[in-house]
Amino acid sequence: MKVFVAGATGAVGKPLLARLVSTGYDVVAMTRSPDKAQAVHDLYPGVVTVVADGLDRKAIIDAVMRTRPEVIVHQMTALAKLTGLKHFDDDFELTNQLRTTGTDYLLEAARAAGARRIIAQSYGNWNYERVGGPIKTEDDALDANPPSSMRRTMAAIRYVESKVLGAAGIEGVALRYGSLYGPGTSIAAGGAIVEAIRKRQFPVVGNGAGVWSFAHVADVASATVAAIERGAPGVYNVCDDEPAPVSVWLPELARAIGAKPPWRVPVWLGRLFAGEAGVSMMTRIRGASNAKAKRELGWQPEYATWRDGFLRLELPLQPQPQLV
Ligand SMILES: NC(=O)c1ccc[n+]([C@@H]2O[C@H](COP(=O)([O-])OP(=O)(O)OC[C@H]3O[C@@H](n4cnc5c(N)ncnc54)[C@H](OP(=O)(O)O)[C@@H]3O)[C@@H](O)[C@H]2O)c1
Repeated sequence: MKVFVAGATGAVGKPLLARLVSTGYDVVAMTRSPDKAQAVHDLYPGVVTVVADGLDRKAIIDAVMRTRPEVIVHQMTALAKLTGLKHFDDDFELTNQLRTTGTDYLLEAARAAGARRIIAQSYGNWNYERVGGPIKTEDDALDANPPSSMRRTMAAIRYVESKVLGAAGIEGVALRYGSLYGPGTSIAAGGAIVEAIRKRQFPVVGNGAGVWSFAHVADVASATVAAIERGAPGVYNVCDDEPAPVSVWLPELARAIGAKPPWRVPVWLGRLFAGEAGVSMMTRIRGASNAKAKRELGWQPEYATWRDGFLRLELPLQPQPQLV
């Protein structure tokens, strides 16, 4: 089966490519950069590379028409320069374009090339309704009233989901990944969150009751392959088994990287530095259940809990066991 991956070089794209190649798929990897295309080719000589910008309609249609994949996977995001949570929508602007315009172009290309299935990266954690129980399933509502600085990003998430799921004649799947960690993400050696925690610049805000659902990029890759192979069209949460409040996971992450415990700061101070989005993520958001993905995609996370995953981040300052 031929699979076209847009966003093949990113934190999710890399492990996804590795898994697709080792499973024996015909893979088409898309990147904007001829150098990255060469690097992909050097690593996987059997992979076909195409150079195209996800916001260039003609280039996308040409690339998909030329390669005629059966399945298209949309993993294009642009979050490497994420500076914090205060200017959320501004930082997500390009990602939002990739989730709207980029999705439109890929869908148009998919139709033109006769693709059977499209799988798009979505998100499921801060964007679930912030009322009711701590863990949300795909049947629960997305937040109708997110903080004002997150509204454009929320609209883009809704857009990609509705377009992919509503695509006539194409099986649409939206994978609501949890908060990513592992190589290439901000929770990895040298990653932005890890470095902020090391500098004690990532405190627990207020009661720290915001519930985070984590997903290791390796598990996100395996869930994506599962969704290529099976599962009815629809949305699936992809995260680990242990949604946890900030007050629980943040001190554990600090410990795992050998940092001092995070400070605790009041909400007013958190708002000053991280804005309403930061306060919401620290105090109010709900986590996600992965039961549907397990049940219907036949998927199991290798990193069943972030407790284990954080200890396996292979960080330079990770405390070593004492031998005495
Ligand atoms: N996914 C989320 O919702 C989320 C949320 C918050 C934080 N993060 C963090 O964000 C970081 C990942 O950063 P990132 O989003 O820059 O991802 P990345 O891991 O660098 O991957 C981005 C992918 O999208 C592709 N891409 C970007 N713009 C494109 C365009 N205009 N046309 C075609 N392809 C395009 C890139 O391809 P080329 O460069 O090869 O063209 C690359 O393959 C991690 O630290 C993660 O933890 C992610």
